[in-house]
Amino acid sequence: MSLSILFSASEAVPFAKSGGLADVVGSLPRYLRSLGHDVRLVMPRYYRIDKEKYGLRLLPGVLVVPMGILGDEYCAVYEGVLPDCDVPVYFLEHDGYYGRDGLYDEANIEFPDNDRRFIFLSKGSLELCKMIGFHPDIINSNDWHTAAIPLLLNSIYRNDPYVGTAASVLTIHNMQYQGIFPPETIEILGVGWEYFTFLGIEKDDRVNLLKGGIYNANILNTVSEGYAAEIGTAEYGWGLENVLRERSADLFGILNGVDYTEWSPETDRHLAANYSAEDMLGKMVCKKELQRELGLPEDDTVPLIGVISRMVKQKGIDFLAEALPQLLKLDIQLIMLGEGEPWAHFYFGGMAAENPTKMRVKVGYDNGLAHRIEAGADFFLMPSAFEPCGLNQMYSMRYGTLPIVRATGGLDDSVENYNEAEMTGTGFKFRDLTAGAIFDTVGWAVYTWYNRRAAIEKLRTNAMQMSFTWESAARKYEHLYMMAISRFQG
Ligand code: ADP
Ligand code: GLC
Repeated sequence: MSLSILFSASEAVPFAKSGGLADVVGSLPRYLRSLGHDVRLVMPRYYRIDKEKYGLRLLPGVLVVPMGILGDEYCAVYEGVLPDCDVPVYFLEHDGYYGRDGLYDEANIEFPDNDRRFIFLSKGSLELCKMIGFHPDIINSNDWHTAAIPLLLNSIYRNDPYVGTAASVLTIHNMQYQGIFPPETIEILGVGWEYFTFLGIEKDDRVNLLKGGIYNANILNTVSEGYAAEIGTAEYGWGLENVLRERSADLFGILNGVDYTEWSPETDRHLAANYSAEDMLGKMVCKKELQRELGLPEDDTVPLIGVISRMVKQKGIDFLAEALPQLLKLDIQLIMLGEGEPWAHFYFGGMAAENPTKMRVKVGYDNGLAHRIEAGADFFLMPSAFEPCGLNQMYSMRYGTLPIVRATGGLDDSVENYNEAEMTGTGFKFRDLTAGAIFDTVGWAVYTWYNRRAAIEKLRTNAMQMSFTWESAARKYEHLYMMAISRFQG
């Protein structure tokens, strides 16, 4: 059965990206399309999205978006496609909301009108269906930015001729960010104060958009099975664990896939040399080039550890910072790429300056360098406090770069721990979130590198054979959508 599916999200590769959400939103619709569904994506036209470069076409007419107490607001709609496929992407252009740098914040300070910006996206997504004559069977929201949609569908859009018959799916990529705003935000949503209740969008006397979505969506999912189980606990639920437990019968986990057209050492166009499991010579070239690019000694014998990460607490960087002085006593090289909290730029940058032959830090966002690190490093370190899915550990495996990860969420689901006796596994795992555990596990990997080369080669082969395809994830989403439809109709 072919479904009509509307994807609504705040970011998508290649147009706008702050993290893995964009990778997912840029890939999944394409694979659902190849399963025969009519999938369309709607997102903001942030002012950095180049209309010419992506060949965006202005649709005739204006989109009217009723913004509750603010009255009707208007935007232009541009249409494009996801690269190399025919999935339409609709961009809402509203200079007041999206005509600025940054997707959600500037210099780490959240935009004060984020409630309006993303309620506009949520309502605009529904109004768009009228404009383009689309009758979705499913509307898939992603994270808090579009989590208002399930509530809107259950209230003011219940009898809408276009979206009134759509079932809702809310995909949670991260529980930490919930879209928390003052109570008055409910008046912009325009659903009426009767919806401002504990069994709905209200939490601690504030509007919580994610909570509203969790209560109202027909089906919920997160991006790994492990995380789906974890978020029902106080450690991972960020205050919404009880709500999630109430809805546990409708909550599923689907591990993200990898876009192997972008992330494969055989074809990666960012590398000095390509390589494969059968011919690993190119990996040595990539390592040397990476060392040269960043000014580290060009030494093939030393294990090179890579980190690519938003520099925020989620990624365990505070514990990494604590472990660093000890780590740098090991015979290793360390390369970090990322941006985030200012103290981290300062601290890691300072440590690199003090250890010029061992450590380099690049503060900023650099996709090409991210690819070169995946290829040139021997190990990839991800000591996350929590990780809904995590993509880099999956990229790393394909590049024969062994992940060293904390066993949490998607990291635990996707990496198999090294078993010394059996010589099985695809990486190195630890459970405790402590500097000591990070040091011990990196130490274990480094020991293995220097003393058990055969094991490293074996783990590399195992890791490179792992395949996290979107084809298989998309089939699981298909199944989820059928469940959402039957929940909606039942
Ligand atoms: P999250 O979405 O929580 O940041 P993920 O592992 O799901 O974590 O996805 C992160 C994505 O962002 C990956 O594609 C990674 O390569 C990319 N990324 C993160 N930081 C940078 C950076 N500084 N430069 C380039 N790419 C980055
Ligand atoms: C979030 C999570 C990350 C996940 C990504 C894509 O940003 O932090 O773990 O991989 O979403 O689902």
